[in-house]
Amino acid sequence: MKYSGYAYIYTIGCQMNVYDSEKLALILDSHGYEKTEDMDKADIVVCNTCSIRHKAEEKAFSFLGRFARIKKKKPHLITVMAGCVAQQEGEKAFARVPHLDVVLGTQAFSRFGGIIDAVKSGKQKVVDIEDSSMIYEALPDTSCFDENKSSKFVTIMQGCDNFCTYCVVPYVRGRERSRSPESIVKEITWLAAAGVKEITLLGQNVNSYGQKEDQISFPQLLAEVNEIKGIYRIRFATSHPKDLSNDLIYAIRDLDKVCNHLHLPIQSGSNKILKKMNRGYTREKYMDRILSLKKECPDIALSTDIIVGFPYETREDFNDTMNLLREIQFDSIFAFAYSDRSSAPAAKFPQQIAEAKKRERLNHLLELQEYYTEKKNKEQVGKILDVLVEGKSGKKRDGFDYAANNMEQMKGRTESNKIVHFPSRDTVIGDMIKIKIENAYLHSLWGHPLGV
Ligand code: SAH
Ligand code: SF4
Ligand code: F3S
Repeated sequence: MKYSGYAYIYTIGCQMNVYDSEKLALILDSHGYEKTEDMDKADIVVCNTCSIRHKAEEKAFSFLGRFARIKKKKPHLITVMAGCVAQQEGEKAFARVPHLDVVLGTQAFSRFGGIIDAVKSGKQKVVDIEDSSMIYEALPDTSCFDENKSSKFVTIMQGCDNFCTYCVVPYVRGRERSRSPESIVKEITWLAAAGVKEITLLGQNVNSYGQKEDQISFPQLLAEVNEIKGIYRIRFATSHPKDLSNDLIYAIRDLDKVCNHLHLPIQSGSNKILKKMNRGYTREKYMDRILSLKKECPDIALSTDIIVGFPYETREDFNDTMNLLREIQFDSIFAFAYSDRSSAPAAKFPQQIAEAKKRERLNHLLELQEYYTEKKNKEQVGKILDVLVEGKSGKKRDGFDYAANNMEQMKGRTESNKIVHFPSRDTVIGDMIKIKIENAYLHSLWGHPLGV
């Protein structure tokens, strides 16, 4: 019998954690644990954690805290804290979660199999937060895939050397290092053969891919991935504005599979704050990059990340950020209230902003952006767009009798990363179809497949 127990994996955090969790699932699989979505069935529970903001960290502790009671009834249950909070806390995690068995840091994945065996044979309270210059690589296996098989993440580099003053990533993910192009191409070729149509290449600063290792550049890597048969779309995140090269802009323009969408985090529209954040660019430099991008790729969709309430942020600084949103008109943004991280230098900055003020600014910003997000969505009405089908949609059109029409409501994404809902009779996950967009709202577009 292949399996001797069940594994439940709970993932918090960024796309890199989603990728890592699939790898953890594979290791668990090879150690006799079948993945389950039912927490009550689990013989091993892994929480893959994130420490980017206080709230994410609390989520991990509160999830793992629940197992104190369950473990009393089920003593053989193994509980694992993996990822960024594990790396940050190390030994200290046991003080807050006394029933925890394993603390598995971000660079310890290649040793996870051995740790499981050791715990099963009686070893207690294992901590592995050792560094590793190597990036854990395992060839993908479809057994760990979740429902959306058409789109997958592939980590191309780990760590970060930028040390933005608010950010924990350089401390919990270590120094920047890149995978070899050969191993990336091999993994994507494998994924394509398994039916994957869209790939998102992941790194904290993909523009500096391969530089330390003296490998091919990121635009060259994109060109290689563009050649892989079966892949329809290539996305990537995250691009750092200070390193966005013209070559990357040309790659977006010229490579047919690279999506006409760029996520380019600005963080703040104020030069004073950008400097305090150690971002390495000014508002003017950012605008210059956006203008170059729009010149070469006029229809490009743009998204960004913003932090409000960073120490020293005055009303004027905040207004600079609001005006930047008006000027650029992003398709979407991710905005966060600054969260103090004790390992990052900004925690020691004197002029911290009151929580209530941060919330107020965040709400203002989100309200302004809603106008532009909806505006950008409405600009799609009447267009015929290529949509990559992701699965069934929970949303239903009022007054439309799906059953009588023998149809289902499906959803997919445009090249610009907008969600589209549409009725369909015979499309399946991974199909690329043409949809005529009929309606647009704040969060999604609605349309009909051509010919239906
Ligand atoms: N490497 C990426 C960012 C990864 S973290 C980049 O440089 O753009 C994702 C986002 O989380 C960041 O862009 C930032 O907006 C936000 N973030 C990071 N640290 C934060 C903190 N301490 N408080 C609030 N938001 C934070
Ligand atoms: Fe964090 Fe800055 Fe590195 Fe992004 S570039 S991961 S924000 S330190
Ligand atoms: Fe969070 Fe770690 Fe990603 S801190 S954002 S899971 S790199």
